[in-house]
Amino acid sequence: MGVLDRFSLHGKVALVTGGYRGLGRAFAQALAEAGADVVVAARDEARSVQAAEEIAGSTGRKTLGLRLDVTSRPEVEAAIARVTEHFGRLDVLVNNAGTCVHRPALEVTDAEYDDVITTNLKGVWLPSTVAARWMGEHGGGSIVNIGSISASIVNRPQLQPVYNASKAAVHQLTKSLAAEWAPLGIRVNAVAPGYVKTEMAPVDRPEFRRMWIEDAPMQRYATPEEIAATVVYLASEASSFSTGSVVVADGGYTLF
Ligand SMILES: NC(=O)c1ccc[n+]([C@@H]2O[C@H](COP(=O)([O-])OP(=O)(O)OC[C@H]3O[C@@H](n4cnc5c(N)ncnc54)[C@H](OP(=O)(O)O)[C@@H]3O)[C@@H](O)[C@H]2O)c1
Repeated sequence: MGVLDRFSLHGKVALVTGGYRGLGRAFAQALAEAGADVVVAARDEARSVQAAEEIAGSTGRKTLGLRLDVTSRPEVEAAIARVTEHFGRLDVLVNNAGTCVHRPALEVTDAEYDDVITTNLKGVWLPSTVAARWMGEHGGGSIVNIGSISASIVNRPQLQPVYNASKAAVHQLTKSLAAEWAPLGIRVNAVAPGYVKTEMAPVDRPEFRRMWIEDAPMQRYATPEEIAATVVYLASEASSFSTGSVVVADGGYTLF
């Protein structure tokens, strides 16, 4: 097998949560370009179906768009059952769905706290455990969690304490599940992106320029496509000896 073959996902099925916009859309596209059949799953069913159709049109892969709330066990179980019935397999799970509240700790409401922790942590826990049960009985798989540099830094000038805590938990959950599931043939890794231009991160706004762009050694933000290649690497046999790792892709931001 040549080295580029190790990145191939031909014959594999990948599910991306929150995959119709932002980073998730780029991940779903890249996984399909690498050869996988792809499932796009988020609460907005119409946009998930539309993104799945666009990806099928541009790559020739089979795709499926689904309604999925990653915080709901019945919805997660139904989505994974539908995917495994439809495609007969599930090889890759990308836990990308996430949310953020930009407010200082003393202003965060209980409802906002619950929403961020539940979406970002339970929203990784539920799909991972439901998928792992299936993967463990069918030869293994690869789970890629989307963490963040916010797991190890405190972002400024906008404060987001609950988000930061949730992403630190995602990194530690990645390591815990990797250790538990290695005997099942399931690898669990994470990507920790720096600033990427999406709806969640308004990286263009002038008030963020000094601390988000000028403080970074590479002096720029990333495009979603630059992070997507790392997701393909972790999803594929190219990373076959890696589990429990957190791959940082941040233009050097966390070096200082
Ligand atoms: N942008 C950055 O700079 C950056 C940096 C580091 C890490 N990240 C992480 O990368 C991931 C994607 O971020 P993004 O910037 O692309 O965000 P985004 O543009 O806001 O997209 C978030 C996606 O998650 C979905 N989602 C939210 N809650 C959900 C739920 N309960 N169930 C299912 N899907 C849900 C949304 O769709 P619905 O609302 O329709 O469900 C949407 O498709 C997140 O985990 C984020 O924390 C982003």
